[in-house]
Amino acid sequence: MLREITILPGTDKLNVRENFTEITLRAGETVSIVGPTGSGKTAFITDIELLAQGDTSTGRTVLVNGTHPIDDIRYNPSLKPIAMITQNTKCFADLTTEEFLEIHARARGITDSAVIPETINLANSFTGEKIHKDTKVTILSGGQTRSLLIADAIMIGAAPIILLDEIENAGIFKQEVIDIIKDTGKIIVFVTHDPVIALLTKKRIIIENGAVKKVLYQNEVEIRAAQNLLEIDRRVGSIREQLRAGDVITNDVLAVNFAS
Ligand SMILES: Nc1ncnc2c1ncn2[C@@H]1O[C@H](COP(=O)(O)OP(=O)(O)O)[C@@H](O)[C@H]1O
Ligand SMILES: [Mg+2]
Repeated sequence: MLREITILPGTDKLNVRENFTEITLRAGETVSIVGPTGSGKTAFITDIELLAQGDTSTGRTVLVNGTHPIDDIRYNPSLKPIAMITQNTKCFADLTTEEFLEIHARARGITDSAVIPETINLANSFTGEKIHKDTKVTILSGGQTRSLLIADAIMIGAAPIILLDEIENAGIFKQEVIDIIKDTGKIIVFVTHDPVIALLTKKRIIIENGAVKKVLYQNEVEIRAAQNLLEIDRRVGSIREQLRAGDVITNDVLAVNFAS
């Protein structure tokens, strides 16, 4: 059982020691990683992916349930407690979406066939371009592929830690989705530039110059700010649809009051 992982400090790009004692991520926690491009966000989650033991460019160490993981956990893919999905993750099998999920569910000993449509539904809540069960996985778009793999990792995969590296398409991750994720008991880490995701996660880690600069915790005001941002998102979406349909916008959209 994975209860928690702990990240111990390494050094920044100038070899200066990072200024934190330890960062612990617990089962059921959502975490966002934010910071400028090139600041070391991918390097941070790659340290988690590799269960680094002072042997990566950052010098960080990652503990599993408070202890150094044995080599088997680090190097045996079937024992590794981590799934990482990036912009480049693809499915190569010549299978339909349904077959792809069925094979994975069978391999995991899941007998309840309802998990297949549930996984496709969850994937479809991440992406505007709906995935059909008979679509070959090889012809899914990048956004559809990432949505399917995330839903698969959540619903079918065994990995208790899911790392997502800048996988968002404009506004695909709605609050409902983050709520579903929270209930799975997994640790989910989002490297993200999306302010809604950053505000909806419980912990926010700020990276600068290769080092952890700050760890912030979500507060009540931020939760409300996230709600307002979601409302803005919805309005932008509806205006986009109106424009696509050839409508003329007749009210001043900026005059809308989001304070309520
Ligand atoms: N602490 C560090 N020490 C040395 N090199 C680092 C460190 N953190 C990041 N890097 C290097 O800096 C470059 C950019 O980091 P990356 O993680 O890709 O940034 P980001 O994902 O934020 O755009 C990479 O080559 C990475 O290996
Ligand atoms: Mg990156």
